[in-house]
Amino acid sequence: MQRLAIRGDLLDLTDDPGFGAVESSAVRFDADIWLLVEDGRIAGRSRTDPGEGWTRIDHRGRLITPGFVDTHVHMPQLDVIASYGTELLDWLNTYTFPAETRYADPAVSRAGAERFSDALLAHGTTAAVVFPTVHAVSSDALFDAAAARGMRMITGKVLMDRHAPAGLTDDVAGAERDCTDGIARWHGRGRLAYAVTVRFAATSTPAQLAMAGELLAAHPGVYMQTHVAENRAEVAWIAELFPDARSYLDVYHRHGLLNGRAVLAHGIWLDDADRARLAATGAQIAHCPTSNLFLGSGLIGWRALEAAGAAVTLASDVGGGTSLSMLRTMAAAYQVQALQGVRLTAWKALHAATRGAAQALHLGHEIGSLDVGCTADLAVWDWAVGPVATHRDALARTLHERVFAWMTLGDERNLAQTFVAGTSRFERRTPECRDG
Ligand code: GUN
Ligand code: ZN
Repeated sequence: MQRLAIRGDLLDLTDDPGFGAVESSAVRFDADIWLLVEDGRIAGRSRTDPGEGWTRIDHRGRLITPGFVDTHVHMPQLDVIASYGTELLDWLNTYTFPAETRYADPAVSRAGAERFSDALLAHGTTAAVVFPTVHAVSSDALFDAAAARGMRMITGKVLMDRHAPAGLTDDVAGAERDCTDGIARWHGRGRLAYAVTVRFAATSTPAQLAMAGELLAAHPGVYMQTHVAENRAEVAWIAELFPDARSYLDVYHRHGLLNGRAVLAHGIWLDDADRARLAATGAQIAHCPTSNLFLGSGLIGWRALEAAGAAVTLASDVGGGTSLSMLRTMAAAYQVQALQGVRLTAWKALHAATRGAAQALHLGHEIGSLDVGCTADLAVWDWAVGPVATHRDALARTLHERVFAWMTLGDERNLAQTFVAGTSRFERRTPECRDG
């Protein structure tokens, strides 16, 4: 039996803390304690050194959280992160679509999937819902890379049979074949799950959307991911393409794409009926604040979604988003709410990037917390890096103040080590000592 004990300050959320309260009974914080891991699962905690039978790693003075769950991110878009000067539709045509055509090459897909998976781990993210490209080789490469690292990954080849360049489109029959093959090959294998991946309503014909709905009906347990109501010009275009639909979200509903395993990125330009529909179906909104700010898309009404009973999780949306860091994502989410006069606590943000995301994906028994029995997907953080953050950390008077400063000032440079199922998959290199 593998027995691992990691010492540090343990932090996770036991429940949704809601908006507002900086004092919350949902916060579980245990300073300076050993987290016990047996055969890749969390087995308990110990105030004292568990002794010789355990491999002990001393991260005393560091923060240990569940590995982050990024509910919406694009594998090939590390190639276009930080591209200047456009809103969504121009950004897709100018930067993103040309970059994604290269992933038809299996060697490009393989290298991209490995670079991307390692990058997630180097940002403390151990589980993700990911868009590859339209090419089945890209999703195969991503599943392979995730399996090699033991990561919890949800992905599937992108469906797009119109309004995209040659080299980046499929057709209904070919897409159905690829998805059916992909589900048989990957879904439920280890920690992998398949997602029927509709890029967005503009790039799929009604026939392809209908096929996607039929696939979901035939394969309960398979996920669905797409984009919705991100940008105003996009919303207007969808209304032209689907004049009979009540709304953008309704396009997906009509085609049988909304259920408790649906992950829809953005959800900025929604109305009350849409929010009620999300709540009724259990579909979640993956909120992507750095992307929404960078592409000038808009400010999400998180509180209204929550009031309607819809799940909201946090996501990087790289390359529309500007960082894979879920710390930066949480800090940007705070700013998006601040612009609307709403206060997002560190607890609420952390919940949306961990247990909340896990639960919305029906994976709360496996990821997103430090509960006994969960898989030991863990991130170990320095509370502060550099003189300014270190100074601020030392002055923090409450736990919320400290965690909020960590989330606001921190990023991947704070990450010391990442564990996936109790195996170290990332460790920060310390600068080598130089002689004389
Ligand atoms: N909508 C359709 N495709 C994309 C994409 O790649 N990124 C973002 N942010 N929105 C999209
Ligand atoms: Zn996206």
